[in-house]
Formats: sequence, C-alpha cells, structure tokens
Amino acid sequence: MIVYRTKSGLSEHLNSLKKEGKTVGLVPTMGALHRGHASLVEKARDENDIVVVSIFVNPTQFNDPSDLDSYPRMLDRDLQLLGQLKTDLVFVPSVEEMYPEADERTFDLGGLDTVMEGLHRKGHFNGVARIVSKLFVLVHPHRSYFGQKDFQQLVIIRRLVEIMELDIIIVACPIIREKDGLAMSSRNVRLNKEERKIAPLIHKTLVEAKAKMADLSPAQVKEWIIHQFDMQPAMDLEYIEIVEDEGLTPIDAWDPEVNKVACLAVHLGEVRLIDNLIFD
Ligand code: PAJ
Repeated sequence: MIVYRTKSGLSEHLNSLKKEGKTVGLVPTMGALHRGHASLVEKARDENDIVVVSIFVNPTQFNDPSDLDSYPRMLDRDLQLLGQLKTDLVFVPSVEEMYPEADERTFDLGGLDTVMEGLHRKGHFNGVARIVSKLFVLVHPHRSYFGQKDFQQLVIIRRLVEIMELDIIIVACPIIREKDGLAMSSRNVRLNKEERKIAPLIHKTLVEAKAKMADLSPAQVKEWIIHQFDMQPAMDLEYIEIVEDEGLTPIDAWDPEVNKVACLAVHLGEVRLIDNLIFD
C-alpha cells in the first residue's frame, strides 16, 4: 500500500496503472474508518484491479466550525485498517493541496440539495460536490463507492456525475450496523455511555414505523415517529421525511410503483446522527 499526499504523485502512479489497462475503484472518505467504510473498500476490492481510498476531512462541507474541529481524526489506525483490507493507494492530502485557492463553484443539484440534510446544513452538499468533483477529476475511477447511510449524498453524487458528464459508475453499498441496529458512523465514538445505550432506538423506531405502513398513511407514520422521539427527552428529532428515492420529494400515499425511503436526523447530546430505512 502506498500513501500519497500530493495530487501529482497520485495521478502519475494512476496514469501508469491505467496505461497497463487496470481498472480503478475509488472510495472517498473522511477517515475515522469503521466497518461501514470497510464494506465499501471490500466491494471496490472485489470489482476493480486497483483500489484507491481518499482520507480528507473536507472543510467546505462543514457548516458548523465546531463540528469540523471535533471531527475524529485517527490516521495511523485508518492506515492500518486499509492495509489489512489490501488497499493499493491511499490519498491523504492537506487542505492546501485540495484547495490551493478558494473554491467558489456552485453546483446546480436540481433541488436535491435543498431538502432534508440540505435544509438543515446550508451549503453542505455544495461542499461535498466541490471535493468529490475534484477527486473524480483527479482519479477518474471506473467505479466509485458510496454508502446508503448517506442516502441523500448518494443521490446527489449520481446527479453530479450526470452534470459533469463523467463516465464513472456509482456503486451504492448497504448500511452496515452495530449488532443493536445503530448505523455505524465516525461520530458514534463521541457518544457517551448513556447516549450510546439509547442510540439504537433510532433504527428500532424506523423498523417499527415501516411495519405500520399497512395501517397508516405516510403523514400518520411520520406523526407516529415524531411522537416516539417526543417521548425521549435525550433525543431531539431534527427532521423525518418519507421521500421517493430519486427526486427526494415527500410522498403522500404508498404507491407500490415508487421506491420510498424514510430519512431522519437526530441530536443525541452533542452528536448529530442520521439514519434511513427503505420502505418497500
Ligand atoms: P464519510 O462520512 O467518511 O463516509 C465515507 C463513505 O462511507 C460514504 O459513502 C458513506 O455513506 C459511507 N458510510 C459511512 N458509514 C457507513 C455505514 N454505516 N454503512 C455503509 N456505508 C457507510 O461521506 C463522507 O465521508 C464525505 O461526505 C465524502 C463523500 C468523503 C466527501 O467528503
């Protein structure tokens, strides 16, 4: 495994590999890696000759400076895990390397960026688009791997590839959860013992809500979810939306022709957690 800190080093190496006809899979991450990230790397390993993982805590996608400061960083541990997963190339650039000058680009994400996460984290997805577009242009992978954990991000990345007219296959990977149902997240390490104990309620509530589809309308299911969180004083539900899975528009009826997903964000102590469940 080779670790590159510069764009030039990485692209030179990739160019020579591509000349040999090797296929390249890219897994963009912000580090503090866990089994969720590992599942993406393993899938990339299965499907490509060369696996590139990027680790970069991207400042342009953080709307809250304290969230950026407290984002967990553990590079040595991450590199050890990536070595075990037989990653070929790791890209760990500095902020200056990725943003030698301010990136003023705004992306037309067709409104996908103004609902749910986008509504509560202004500019977040534009920041994601800035960094992922740079990584795509730099690496130009055959395939790139994204988790359904960040469902809205995945939909937006598909849109980004379309508007940039790139020939990159976006591969969606299922959410990896702890045994108790909590979706794995780099932010989970910031939960204290008490918070960690109640965090699985997020997934449990979504699973129970899904079972109510037979008896309740989408609006009633949402109300029921809101009520469940109202009964948990330690948890503050920021939003819950049940949307169709391409345009992310809220649904008002259970149309069997439409794929639906319930997405939410919850504050638990100092930590903001997101999760979702496919409602089919
Ligand atoms: P990060 O939060 O590090 O996540 C990197 C990738 O891992 C994302 O595609 C995310 O959806 C996936 N992932 C995280 N937890 C997962 C889980 N429990 N199961 C399956 N996949 C999971 O998402 C980002 O970084 C950044 O926004 C990035 C795309 C790297 C741009 O900066």
